[in-house]
Amino acid sequence: MLVSAKEMLNAARDGKYAVGQFNINNLEWTKAILLTAQENKSPVILGVSEGAGKYMGGYKTIVGMVNGLLEELNITVPVALHLDHGSYEGCFKAMEAGFSSIMFDGSHYPIAENIAKTTELVKITGEKGLSLEAEVGSIGGEEDGVVGTGEVADPAECKSIADLGVTMLAAGIGNIHGKYPANWTGLNFEVLAKIKEATGDMPLVLHGGTGIPESMIKEGISLGVAKINVNTECQLSFAEATRKYIEAGKDLQSKGFDPRKLLAPGFEAIKATVKEKMELFGSVNRA
Ligand code: 13P
Repeated sequence: MLVSAKEMLNAARDGKYAVGQFNINNLEWTKAILLTAQENKSPVILGVSEGAGKYMGGYKTIVGMVNGLLEELNITVPVALHLDHGSYEGCFKAMEAGFSSIMFDGSHYPIAENIAKTTELVKITGEKGLSLEAEVGSIGGEEDGVVGTGEVADPAECKSIADLGVTMLAAGIGNIHGKYPANWTGLNFEVLAKIKEATGDMPLVLHGGTGIPESMIKEGISLGVAKINVNTECQLSFAEATRKYIEAGKDLQSKGFDPRKLLAPGFEAIKATVKEKMELFGSVNRA
């Protein structure tokens, strides 16, 4: 059964580790992430962007697929199905379809409007027992058409959103979706420390987990990061493994073109990436 992310994130905050949110794109992604979480006894959050939601045939299709896998693969670790960077309307659609966790990304609205819309969603998600992530200060780069300028969040604005009673808060601290450019100056820990001070025990969310050096991940966790989002890194691992298979001509040998064979190296590569992240984030054996 899908669960809200609240309990797993509060436990991560208290235990000084982070739960990974891994974005899904299809059946292979979902199965690989769920099996890795189960094998490593780790709680996990499956992230679905609005673009990936459309690609997979809509939120109801995804809820059906994930619930089916939980039951038929005997997944017993806590799993949240989370809308990633949801629009206001998108949040309602995902809730209606059966998602157990929602992110409302109001970072592009003026702060008063972000507060007003987040307030409404705090009430509704609270009534339904779902977790809610809010965002202040946009995450840089592009993800599925959502483009952020990468501004650094204002700790006072973070406090006003945290005080509304959201479950978790994403605050921009120089993090970027996708690969980091060579001239990236790193995460702004000074601001993160101020956000932590302003928001108390609010579990903080680090987007753009792909390519952040280990030492920065650890420092982020020590400053209150309890959820780390990873998307691009699984895509890169999948693509690299699939390319190797094809470049070695394996799809042309025997029945190597069978999708179950063709997609297997990419599937295993996602599993390896997710395991590596769970170990780095410290969520192994926490379920
Ligand atoms: P990356 O694609 O950089 O890993 O970011 C993922 C993310 O933050 C999803 O919201």
